[in-house]
Amino acid sequence: MTRLADRTARISSSPTMKVTTTVDRLRRQGVDIIDFGAGEPDFGTPAHVSAAAHAAIDRDFTKYTPVAGIAELRRAICDRYRVDYGVEYKESEVIVSAGGKQALFNTALTLFNPGDEVITHAPYWPTLSEQAKLAEATPVLVRTSPEDGFAIRSDAILNAVTARTKGIIINSPCNPTGVLISEDDLAIIAQEAARRDIWVVVDLCYEKLIYDRTPHNVPAVLQRHCRDLAVICGSASKAYAMTGWRCGWTIAPAHVVAAQSAVQSHSTSNVSSITQQAALAALTGSQEPVTLMLNEYRTRRDNLCQWLAEDPRLGFCRPAGAFYLFVDVSGALSVDGFRTSADFAEALLNEARVAVTPGEAFDAPGFIRISYATSMENLREGSTRLLEFVAKHAPQAATA
Ligand SMILES: Cc1ncc(COP(=O)(O)O)c(C=O)c1O
Repeated sequence: MTRLADRTARISSSPTMKVTTTVDRLRRQGVDIIDFGAGEPDFGTPAHVSAAAHAAIDRDFTKYTPVAGIAELRRAICDRYRVDYGVEYKESEVIVSAGGKQALFNTALTLFNPGDEVITHAPYWPTLSEQAKLAEATPVLVRTSPEDGFAIRSDAILNAVTARTKGIIINSPCNPTGVLISEDDLAIIAQEAARRDIWVVVDLCYEKLIYDRTPHNVPAVLQRHCRDLAVICGSASKAYAMTGWRCGWTIAPAHVVAAQSAVQSHSTSNVSSITQQAALAALTGSQEPVTLMLNEYRTRRDNLCQWLAEDPRLGFCRPAGAFYLFVDVSGALSVDGFRTSADFAEALLNEARVAVTPGEAFDAPGFIRISYATSMENLREGSTRLLEFVAKHAPQAATA
């Protein structure tokens, strides 16, 4: 058989999406599954957003647009960041892409060369390192630890810098840990990046999902310390419950945006014209739906933490953002049954019909990720099943 390109051997398909595929298959077989795997809001897209898309279709706004997006939407993105963070960007510093994922992919392709090192923190969202590999760069993983609340420390990141470091990617709020980088740590990283001429890429796809009053003005910190080297990737997916619409953006120096536009012009061209009108409505319209969803996620987070705290074999840090609880199940692995968190997740699905994503997907064996982007009823039922499953399979620890 004729060989595939070498790059196909360097990457593996998204493990988080594998859970979705399995859940889908089982559900089609009629199996009742509680799905804690999904990395997407369970809410509907806000009505005024969908209405804008209907209106776009009705007035035949269905043709190609400029590759980087319609001017109104690029403007709306600048305005949103000005209102939310007090930072100024021009339209020429913004490109609209098919989700945060394409924004990050364009970023990897336009910033990294073969042999460059790209630092990011782990546990991590696997796409970040896979995209670096697709750009033929080398991902360098800096471990954050559960004992330290998975904090992203500037000294750990900067210790990993070498003469070959071309970029540092920070995901905050972080999937899967829910941690936020502190403004101080980010400032130290940004200052050093400016001194050493290193790109700082921030994945802010969960920026609207922050539960407590923690300072997190990432754009302002970057503007202050390394504006010419800062690349912000954002998304409408999680904030506005718009995962399927595929709309994200990159905010970066104009020459970076121009290069990304060139790449995008030869791959996907513009984001769907209809989606762009919907995203425009999302960004310029009432932000009330975002607040309502955030409040509901917060209550779910609090309940979930309370329920799972009943079993000391399940360790976790309370997430500050995103909608995941990253649970240490190493104390619940049974001696003669499943030994890894991947086995644990598989057994949990087969026996208790609860789907979670094993920590192996995030380079963190011993953990499972629970998405609380699901109804309170599902959360209660799934937590009960999980607690019963652990009690059944780790009996020694229960009596300890
Ligand atoms: C950390 C992180 N960044 C980016 C994305 C990209 O999302 P989208 O392409 O839907 O904007 C995701 C999606 O799960 C994510 O978890």
